[in-house]
Amino acid sequence: MNSKVYIETFGCQMNVADTERAATGLRQAGYEMTSTAEAADIVLLNTCSVRERAERKVFRRIGEIRNHAKRAARKKPVIGVMGCVAQLEGSAIFASAPAVDLVIGTRATDRIPSLIERVREGEATVIDLEDRQESEVWDVSPAERRSPYVAFVPIIEGCNKFCSFCIVPYSRGREKSRSAREIVAEVHGLRSLGYKEAQLIGQNVNSYRPQSQEGLEPYSGATSFSRLLRAVADTGMQRIKFTTSFPRDFHPDIVSALEEYPNLCDWVHLPVQSGSDRILKAMRRGHNSEDYLRRVESIKNSRRRLSLTSDIIVGFPGETEEDFEKTMQLVRNCEYDALYIFKYSKRAGTPAAMMDDALPEADKTRRFMALEELQSSVQDRIYNSYVGKTVSVLVERQSARSTEDMTGHSTCHKVVNFRANETRPGEIVDVVISHAKPNSLYGTLMS
Ligand code: SAH
Ligand code: F3S
Repeated sequence: MNSKVYIETFGCQMNVADTERAATGLRQAGYEMTSTAEAADIVLLNTCSVRERAERKVFRRIGEIRNHAKRAARKKPVIGVMGCVAQLEGSAIFASAPAVDLVIGTRATDRIPSLIERVREGEATVIDLEDRQESEVWDVSPAERRSPYVAFVPIIEGCNKFCSFCIVPYSRGREKSRSAREIVAEVHGLRSLGYKEAQLIGQNVNSYRPQSQEGLEPYSGATSFSRLLRAVADTGMQRIKFTTSFPRDFHPDIVSALEEYPNLCDWVHLPVQSGSDRILKAMRRGHNSEDYLRRVESIKNSRRRLSLTSDIIVGFPGETEEDFEKTMQLVRNCEYDALYIFKYSKRAGTPAAMMDDALPEADKTRRFMALEELQSSVQDRIYNSYVGKTVSVLVERQSARSTEDMTGHSTCHKVVNFRANETRPGEIVDVVISHAKPNSLYGTLMS
């Protein structure tokens, strides 16, 4: 009987994509994939370390898996840690969690089958924190994708920006772009398999810089990324989204590409992190608020109504009330369609971890709540402006709230619920919005 592997995924879409890739390789090597830790002979945790809380969750989970095996009087499964915690903590994981047999760095995804083999042959601890090999494949088998309609397509890995608070450049290494030819071929393949949406993903998609322009020759554009957008749009894939855009590298030609191709979706995620120039400088973001607002202007002035979302960190070391007020002001000005707010979390090894003036938790919480309240009033207005309008929705599944409703995402990346009628997951339908909720829209099918 084949050994069964279960992979549990934490964190961002890049981890989801890595899990899909790892599962593809494991299945090719003869393993069977399973959907619960309890049924598995090998459990891999694909981890996130962007904030402390995410990291703690992993160690709790390792304990649970080990204890469950004990209680069930079952042999402990082989336990492997992959993803960002693995890359950052390396062999220290074996000391802090002795149940772990295997540590798999962020660029060792393709070598997982042979690493597992070594554990099974009796090596007590196996670790691989090495770089990717040039020859490796990015194939993902459709059976391993999280959704049969929406596919994540990594276009660039890693990050060279070294924002002072962020651990990602250390956990994911330097930026490495995939070839355009390969990306376009993948999207063509997805389309012929019936996928309705491709999401181009990367820490900073718009820093995309392939080694050659091969595959992009027929397409114009001010940057490799805007050329890639046109090339991918030309595959005819029905919906194309991309995330995350880095403000400093956000060229207005991206907006031009969105205007040229209706299948490039009307949504831009452009994290600002703070509205205070003093804090942006300490964060080493490489942009101030004016640079950022200029990018926002190009998005808001587009011929298409583009939805805009962002990330903000509250309570960065030394953030004063005045700095925070500037963030509030920026949020009022930008009128985001959605905002992801994070309390600053100190990450060992980053420059910000050495800064004095850490803020008390209570201040972070207060600012978090104030910003959340402001955003919810902004969002209320924006969501209500959709009432009476028609949006295009990719139907994903039955709504959790009501068996009579279906749910999906609009092209502008809002959750839309609607009376199901005869619709099925995977269809793209037009929905007339009848009312707005805090984080979703509700409507009926256009007749
Ligand atoms: N590449 C993206 C961000 C990747 S991390 C960018 O352009 O900014 C995703 C989000 O997590 C970040 O945008 C940031 O808001 C948040 N984040 C990263 N490090 C953090 C930390 N140390 N504490 C709190 N939030 C953090
Ligand atoms: Fe992190 Fe800044 Fe890169 S937030 S992922 S270092 S752009």
